[in-house]
Amino acid sequence: MHPVLKRSLVLSLLASWPVLAAEGPVRVAVKAAHLIDGKTDRVLSPAVVLIEDGRIVQVGAALSVPAGAKVLDLGQATLLPGLIDVHVHLTGVPENSGYKGLGVSVPREALYGASNALKTLMAGFTSARNVAAGGYSDVALREAIDAGQLAGPRLLVSGPALGITGGHCDENLLPPKFHYREEGVADGPWEARAKAREVIKYGADLIKVCASGGVLSKGDQPGAPQLTAEELHAIVEEAHRAGRKVAAHAHGTQSIKEAIRAGVDSIEHASLIDEEGLSLAKAYGTFLVFDIYNDDFILQEGLKMGMLPESIAKEKAVGQLQRASFTRAVKAEARMAFGTDAGVYPHGDNAKQFALLVRYGMTPMQAIRSATLDAAELLGWKDKVGSIEPGKRADLIAVQGDPLTDIRVLEDVRFVMKDGAVVKDTLRPSGSGG
Ligand code: ARG
Repeated sequence: MHPVLKRSLVLSLLASWPVLAAEGPVRVAVKAAHLIDGKTDRVLSPAVVLIEDGRIVQVGAALSVPAGAKVLDLGQATLLPGLIDVHVHLTGVPENSGYKGLGVSVPREALYGASNALKTLMAGFTSARNVAAGGYSDVALREAIDAGQLAGPRLLVSGPALGITGGHCDENLLPPKFHYREEGVADGPWEARAKAREVIKYGADLIKVCASGGVLSKGDQPGAPQLTAEELHAIVEEAHRAGRKVAAHAHGTQSIKEAIRAGVDSIEHASLIDEEGLSLAKAYGTFLVFDIYNDDFILQEGLKMGMLPESIAKEKAVGQLQRASFTRAVKAEARMAFGTDAGVYPHGDNAKQFALLVRYGMTPMQAIRSATLDAAELLGWKDKVGSIEPGKRADLIAVQGDPLTDIRVLEDVRFVMKDGAVVKDTLRPSGSGG
């Protein structure tokens, strides 16, 4: 294991001790030279965050630290809210792309998930949304993290993704003699409805659907519609009745519009969105999740990872168009949340997408907002995470340098606190949890 990860694990264990041992509330004061709160556009300098039992109680420039509080002085660092990635595949890794993935069991996928959850947390992502996993391995992962048995981001998970026979969310790598059908496959509105009920039954927090074809699937096209409007409506109605949101994989122009009209909560990829699609997204308040870092990794490393040559060809056709769509979406002031598709590229590299968001049109503050308060809103967790404000969970990160002048400092997160417990600290010379 990487030494920083190993030390971080030890820190996270240590950090939970005072919570168990102390009598009365556990108070922590985190000090740093600067603070970006995720909500306002100003930078607070200097900054103190007072935390009690894992929750933020006060934020200010010069607060008096209550007696008995443990003080963590992060010096010249900049504090930010814990980051959020709304599109990850924790149970997958790039090395298992294409045919290689067929030999991986569900229990093995769950173990990949444990290791990737830790990497994601250490990269500063204290919350994430897992959109598609086989055998409910992501449900198991969420339960283990929530129970405190594994270190990882707080998770919302979808379980298996719903889609049509032979579509992006079906497995098309095997010939018919294997009679394989992916567990989320559903054809027709009633079958789709039943499938939505089934994944909710087995623990899905949200429903992931494949509305269009994709890049990494065999034998389909990103621009081609898959689930019909009728099927999408049935799934969304069923999900919303159960209080679950719907995330729709949709690269194609037509599918994007059909999914928005059906009432999905987010469009994932959104590569070929047109002007009408953008207006619809704004009118319906649908979030757009552009995974624009993905293209770099797929084109450079895809073949080595086992991705099919046809997938590389599809990526060449769609990657730059997606980036142009992202630029148009920023100009149109569409709602956006930070989602990367980690798992296609290595977990822990999630923050590499920030530089692209800025290069293709967002201000650094907008890019940060998309991965904090805006992402929290899409998750339905706006009252809990996404900003440094009294009443919210104490999920904080710190970086060295100013992310507003150099967004890439977010690729090197030095301090991570989740729920008031320090899980990583490479800032202070003592290197200890406090
Ligand atoms: N999972 C997605 C798919 O297979 C990845 C798309 C990656 N490409 C991109 N330009 N974002 O369709």
